[in-house]
Amino acid sequence: MYPLLKLIIAHLGPHKSFDSATLARRSELAKRCSDQVGMMKRDRHTMRKRNLAARSNDGDGNTTYTITAAAPKYDFLKNDTCILTPETSNGPYVYPPSQLLRQNMVENQVGVPLELDIGLIDVNTCEPLTNVLVDIWHCNATGSYSSFTGLDPNTDFGTLYHNLTNTYPNGTHGLGDLEWMHTDNATWLRGMWPTDKHGATSFQTIFPGFYVERAIHIHAQVHTNWSVLTNGTIAHGRTVSTGQIFIDEALEEEIMALEPYASHTQITRYTNVEDGIYSTESETGAMTILDTEPLDGVDYKNGVLGYITFGVDTTQIRDGSTVNANPSVV
Ligand SMILES: *[C@@H]1O[C@H](CO)[C@@H](O)[C@H](O)[C@H]1NC(C)=O
Ligand SMILES: *[C@@H]1O[C@H](CO)[C@@H](O)[C@H](O)[C@H]1NC(C)=O
Ligand SMILES: *[C@@H]1O[C@H](CO)[C@@H](O)[C@H](O)[C@H]1NC(C)=O
Ligand SMILES: *[C@@H]1O[C@H](CO)[C@@H](O)[C@H](O)[C@H]1NC(C)=O
Ligand SMILES: *[C@@H]1O[C@H](CO)[C@@H](O)[C@H](O)[C@H]1NC(C)=O
Ligand SMILES: *[C@@H]1O[C@H](CO)[C@@H](O)[C@H](O)[C@H]1NC(C)=O
Ligand SMILES: *[C@@H]1O[C@H](CO)[C@@H](O)[C@H](O)[C@H]1NC(C)=O
Repeated sequence: MYPLLKLIIAHLGPHKSFDSATLARRSELAKRCSDQVGMMKRDRHTMRKRNLAARSNDGDGNTTYTITAAAPKYDFLKNDTCILTPETSNGPYVYPPSQLLRQNMVENQVGVPLELDIGLIDVNTCEPLTNVLVDIWHCNATGSYSSFTGLDPNTDFGTLYHNLTNTYPNGTHGLGDLEWMHTDNATWLRGMWPTDKHGATSFQTIFPGFYVERAIHIHAQVHTNWSVLTNGTIAHGRTVSTGQIFIDEALEEEIMALEPYASHTQITRYTNVEDGIYSTESETGAMTILDTEPLDGVDYKNGVLGYITFGVDTTQIRDGSTVNANPSVV
């Protein structure tokens, strides 16, 4: 990795950006709604089981799901929240013009199905956040992002940047807006959907692959005061907070052994602990790993169902925007 980018990642760490009071507050916030988060996730899990059961009994009688458990099994659900923060990186592949209002974001991409069940909670009131737009994007099974398909996922970002500009990114300022690096208008594996009256939403996608010097992750942002254009992209909408979803290493190993993931041999995948953003998020209490179960209740190879609850610190929002937003983009 280009050294300056490493430096910028380091600067996102607690010694520079966060004082101990902020860290203590984040850590407290991540835990304080644990009962409500636990209840919320269990409700979502129960509702989903009920929906799947209903689907299995519908019209043509055909279903890809078999309901095996009589009672909902939810001991795998954690109570913690992933606190979204203004500081967490958008990454260079944020591209609002290609984010479409839809729940199924697969298009033509091949991979293990992933259903994401996402809850939003206000960590000050412990109440669900309704009608907040959740914005999701991630790379495909071999590490490419739509709208940036011309950038090699196996070449580090500093080199890609240098190749295009003949300069290296100059500190955080030089990394302010990288939308100009997009190479196309493809929209796959990007989607947005609002939370319902329970503060929940969901997406159908595929399990992401990986690209150079990053662990497997999914980007998420939430927007308030949003509206959409006729072509389904967002017209305006303050970005309240940003986060990245990480996944359990053992599950990643299982999925990466399957095609088409297994063909991505040009680079070595970073595990979570090797990833700078993962470490930063862990240190700030912003981190939680996706809770998962097999979509069919049997085998992860047939699909993964993932649950996560994002916590938003609404006291950090003024006039629909985040206070002291520092959109870093590494
Ligand atoms: C998690 O939430 C459930 C449901 O409210 C509660 O019974 C349990 O004690 C919580 N666990 C922890 C560790 O907070
Ligand atoms: C339902 O399953 C039967 C038997 O496998 C198959 O013949 C039929 O085409 C299926 N119907 C639909 C709508 O998939
Ligand atoms: C949607 O419309 C906006 C505004 O005209 C444009 O900037 C954007 O590229 C369009 N996106 C798609 C996917 O058509
Ligand atoms: C991921 O996207 C890139 C760029 O469009 C494409 O070349 C590659 O085949 C895709 N990977 C898979 C597994 O389809
Ligand atoms: C550098 O950019 C050119 C096009 O400008 C492209 O053909 C080439 O693949 C790029 N090289 C790398 C390492 O990204
Ligand atoms: C994206 O779409 C817009 C509008 O259709 C077009 O003007 C632009 O050239 C496209 N950009 C790329 C990189 O294909
Ligand atoms: C919501 O968005 C509209 C349109 O951009 C703007 O006029 C209004 O001030 C915004 N309201 C808040 C609370 O941010």
